[in-house]
Amino acid sequence: MNKLFIIVFAICIFCLPACNQNEESQQKRKAKEKTALTFIRNDDCLNCHNIEDKSVGPTYVQISQKYEADFSTVSRLANKIIEGGGGIWGSEQMTRHPFLEKKDAKKIVRWIFSLNDSTLNKSPVRYQSTLRFSEVFRDKSQKSNLTNGLEINVFAPGEGKAFDLAYLNPEALSEDAVAYSGKASVIHFTEQLSFQPVSAGSLIRATGYLHIKEKGKYFFKLVKAGQGRVFIDGDKIINENDSDTEVLKEILPGTYPIIVEYVLREDNNIWSLQWITPDDEYYEVIPTEVFSVDIK
Ligand code: HEC
Repeated sequence: MNKLFIIVFAICIFCLPACNQNEESQQKRKAKEKTALTFIRNDDCLNCHNIEDKSVGPTYVQISQKYEADFSTVSRLANKIIEGGGGIWGSEQMTRHPFLEKKDAKKIVRWIFSLNDSTLNKSPVRYQSTLRFSEVFRDKSQKSNLTNGLEINVFAPGEGKAFDLAYLNPEALSEDAVAYSGKASVIHFTEQLSFQPVSAGSLIRATGYLHIKEKGKYFFKLVKAGQGRVFIDGDKIINENDSDTEVLKEILPGTYPIIVEYVLREDNNIWSLQWITPDDEYYEVIPTEVFSVDIK
């Protein structure tokens, strides 16, 4: 009897730290899973709604702008998600979501309203300041000591012409046409002045590698005024059409070649590459640490 007790006791001592750790990480994961965007990712919402791009249903940003975020509206919208219906935004109907609990539906609605927070919309939370091409091109020696970030090449357009991404043949771009080159820590150029000295009609191309550590569903967004697009691992995930700015993509850990392009307009330019990582709820500028110029 005593022996048995000692053995059981010994097993417990051995196992406890491991069990505890497991429980802790499970709790953490559960807490994360409760974030509003996780409900949206795991339900069918994204079949019909994007955050900013129009789809079958209104965008979440549009919804956030239509209503005041008062108690009764949050409750009404939560009920509507659960019960489905139409009549407000057009002729399409929303399907029912009877398995969604009211408190979770409310969480989603509160998240939707948070998108209308002007500070969130104008500049992504965790990266406020704009980058400038004058800095990107200034110091050629930067090229060798900055390992993170993306390589930038600017191609000058032919006489009186502007590049058109819809008809661009990448093989036809010659090294000779490179007007400027340098290195950017991130893609986040948000004011007309930040594009100097690049001239209108030029093609700006960022190339390098994207390092993904965490498996999951990522939103990518290219904020753009002129034509712009994104390739990851050879796939065009955001195309040059004005209306295509946002995509949800499931990615496995790994290193992927990335190309981000933009054709500069005469004025009001903006070019910013952002994402929402699997355990986050808001767009941020894709940070420099996950980019590298060379494969590593
Ligand atoms: C089959 C397509 C479809 C799916 C799936 C879908 N919706 Fe909708 N949703 C719509 C349509 C269409 C509307 C506009 C309805 C209307 O005009 O009243 C809408 C409207 C809404 C509204 C605004 C309602 C209003 O009265 O203004 C919210 C909030 C919303 N959806 C959230 C969600 C969430 C969250 C999910 C996932 C749990 C979801 N939707 C899934 C199609 C869909």
